[in-house]
Amino acid sequence: MKRIIVAVDGFSSCGKSTMAKELARETGYIYVDTGAMYRAVSLFCIRKGLMTDSKMNEEAIASELENMQLEFKTNTDGKSEIYLNGENVENIIRTLEVASGASRVSTLGVVRRELVRQQQLMGNNKGIVMDGRDIGTVVFPQAELKIFLTASPEIRAQRRLLEMKAKSESVDYDAVLTNVKERDERDVNRTESPLRKADDAIEIDNSNLTPAEQQQILRTLFAEKTLE
Ligand code: DC
Repeated sequence: MKRIIVAVDGFSSCGKSTMAKELARETGYIYVDTGAMYRAVSLFCIRKGLMTDSKMNEEAIASELENMQLEFKTNTDGKSEIYLNGENVENIIRTLEVASGASRVSTLGVVRRELVRQQQLMGNNKGIVMDGRDIGTVVFPQAELKIFLTASPEIRAQRRLLEMKAKSESVDYDAVLTNVKERDERDVNRTESPLRKADDAIEIDNSNLTPAEQQQILRTLFAEKTLE
């Protein structure tokens, strides 16, 4: 069976990571959450005071990047988690503040170039499922299977809200919906690698699909590509 690269792109809170993780688990492929990398850069910048609500110091961020080491490690129950300079930040990066910061730092060319370089190294041996915004267009334009996942902003906000409530975080629907729409706007309109569907990507709108239905579609597409 052929080893391939699977690129999963799409809007925030679409369920990309659930889909990508499940496929990686079923196939024994490596799973890489590139959003976690941008979130970790955001956390790094917030902590160092390089980014506040009103401004971002691009020059300082560029020169501090060499002091930021990112790594994925597999924890005891087989889940891949991100480490920032040796600290497990997998949970801390899931707040709305860090998410908004990630959407801002991800507009910077200097940040994107560094993260894309690291992501391309991870795909050297194929056998990888990577999710993000620019995987099929910039990181792995040669990926054998490209998925572009979409769902309406309202459905995505509702799903995100449930996830946050499950973690006992106090947020309301309107705040989550506003955050989802702001991030969409920035992802689609930024100059550096804006979110767009690669010409050869397969679009899946999962607004009305159950996770099981979605996974079955992906499984079939994966089987087709690896048997070719
Ligand atoms: O997928 P996520 O919500 O964890 O991503 C966080 C932010 O990072 C999101 O606003 C867009 C950005 N991002 C990006 O620009 N490129 C990627 N490949 C992944 C994420």
